[in-house]
Amino acid sequence: MKLLIHDLNEEEFTHISADYKEFEIISDNGNIKPCIGCFSCWIKTPGKCVIKDGYDNIADLIHKADEVVIISRYTYGGPSSFVKNALDRCIGFVSPFFEVYMDEMHHKKRYPEDKPITCIFRSDSFTEDDKENAKRYVKAMCTNLHGTVKDIRFEECNICDTDKIVLEETDCDPQKVLLINCSLRADNANSKRFLNFLEAKLDNTENINLSTYLNKTDELIKKIDGVDKIVLAMPLYVDGIPSAPLRLMEKIEKYQFNSAKKIYLISNMGLYESKQLINLMSMVKQWSDKCGFKYCGGVAIGAGEMQGMMANPSNPGKGPAKYVIQGLNSLSDAIKGSGYIDDVYADAYKFSRSLYMFIANTSWPRDAKKYGLKKKDL
Ligand SMILES: Cc1cc2nc3c(=O)[nH]c(=O)nc-3n(C[C@H](O)[C@H](O)[C@H](O)COP(=O)(O)O)c2cc1C
Repeated sequence: MKLLIHDLNEEEFTHISADYKEFEIISDNGNIKPCIGCFSCWIKTPGKCVIKDGYDNIADLIHKADEVVIISRYTYGGPSSFVKNALDRCIGFVSPFFEVYMDEMHHKKRYPEDKPITCIFRSDSFTEDDKENAKRYVKAMCTNLHGTVKDIRFEECNICDTDKIVLEETDCDPQKVLLINCSLRADNANSKRFLNFLEAKLDNTENINLSTYLNKTDELIKKIDGVDKIVLAMPLYVDGIPSAPLRLMEKIEKYQFNSAKKIYLISNMGLYESKQLINLMSMVKQWSDKCGFKYCGGVAIGAGEMQGMMANPSNPGKGPAKYVIQGLNSLSDAIKGSGYIDDVYADAYKFSRSLYMFIANTSWPRDAKKYGLKKKDL
């Protein structure tokens, strides 16, 4: 069996369906739910997603497939929100346990094979930068998911819809800062903790969870139009933007806002090296450019599951969170002055990768115990 994951509409797919007769197909029926970051596919039902929407068996389909082909609209350097949603829902394909691979922290394999993956990106046109960005994303994604890059192709086709939706005039508070926690773990997210840190440093803020607005994005878009400064905080999912904020960003791109927006970013990740956030940071910058917003820099945080607990306003900037706190302080100064910073990549200070990995690897069996599972079951 071969597996095709695509975001084509029915009409587009009919033109190429003959080439994919032998394939199992994952396509968009409008019902896919975003990953909520619960890790059940690692600690409760190993290898299987617990969200029962018909897209819960993607890891298993990838395992059974001889190869995987992905066809996606090129979106800010990676795949579209539907394809990204499918990828986010497949992390049970790898084991929760960590190892060092190519001198970086990654997940161990759940299955013995390396999966050949072909990616076909579609857009009206591609610059050389677009192609480099897409290749860098696919390479990182394959490294993390234990895939091998079989091929990356770029197809130019007419898929542009340039007509912008004009928003009614809204009152804009140019000094107010809208803090958007894009993690669906909501108040329990590390992203939320980093935003709480900023909130304590800034005067005029509104600190909201994207999870509250998933079914009322129009309301959120109005909120965005009412401010000039926006801080997005999000985790790294499969080397890119999680599908829920990506879906919102695709929608925002369609709107004509009443004032220019400044975009600030806080990203965090489970693995150790903050440099693995490069794709996500670049994607948010590309999105800002596409929307006509000004990307004003951000902080990329490695070992986020630990730093989320340590980087709080009462921490004077000592210990493993030293660089994170320095970065968040620089970011809050830039926001106050409506300025910008160069992206800060913040690793743990004097806290070794091997110790972080040891702690993380011992946490999985402990977390799985409450579901009656042992280390060997994971
Ligand atoms: C679907 C999914 C994919 C993930 N992919 C990555 C990844 O590619 N690299 C990484 O370092 N961490 C990855 N993580 C871990 C999260 O980035 C990490 O747990 C982060 O601290 C969560 O932040 P939050 O609490 O703000 O959601 C992934 C987590 C999930 C649920």
